[in-house]
Amino acid sequence: MTEEKTKGVSRRRLFKWVGGASLIAIGGQAFFFLRSCIPNVLYEPMKRIKIGLPNIFPQGHKFLSAFRIFVFKEEKDMHTISCVCTHLGCNVQISEFSQPRKVKHGDVEVEETFEFVCPCHGSRFRADGTHYTGPAPTPLPHYKMEIAQDDGQVVVDKGEEVDKNARLKVEA
Ligand code: FES
Repeated sequence: MTEEKTKGVSRRRLFKWVGGASLIAIGGQAFFFLRSCIPNVLYEPMKRIKIGLPNIFPQGHKFLSAFRIFVFKEEKDMHTISCVCTHLGCNVQISEFSQPRKVKHGDVEVEETFEFVCPCHGSRFRADGTHYTGPAPTPLPHYKMEIAQDDGQVVVDKGEEVDKNARLKVEA
């Protein structure tokens, strides 16, 4: 009788221990399941950026290092090209020619006064961003530009690539 009582007590203790461990395991599973339903916060750089009024940009180009873009203005046309080399992400630089050069863009021959050069592994890009030598696999992207409705500043959308011939018309 005493032995049965002892067995009963130890069995009850064992069931309690197994029950407690199971509850902890189920609670842990539930926690991780619920946590997986909440997205992690990503602190990515802003894709749409205001870069200033059109009239602060000179004719020619301006490098905005903080945003890693070149902004070009030709008369009343503006466009933006990324300075991020498509090989491993170094900043490309503008290399001005001492004399204009005729280069072929497909079947069309155009005169260019500069090109983009990557200092890291020597990739070179035409003035329109087309890659023509070196390890970079793709051209430099052009980004969408528009005028902000609220304050008239130029907005560059680094989340939206556009054709290399796309231009933003500005007043000045
Ligand atoms: Fe530009 Fe390698 S990072 S060529």
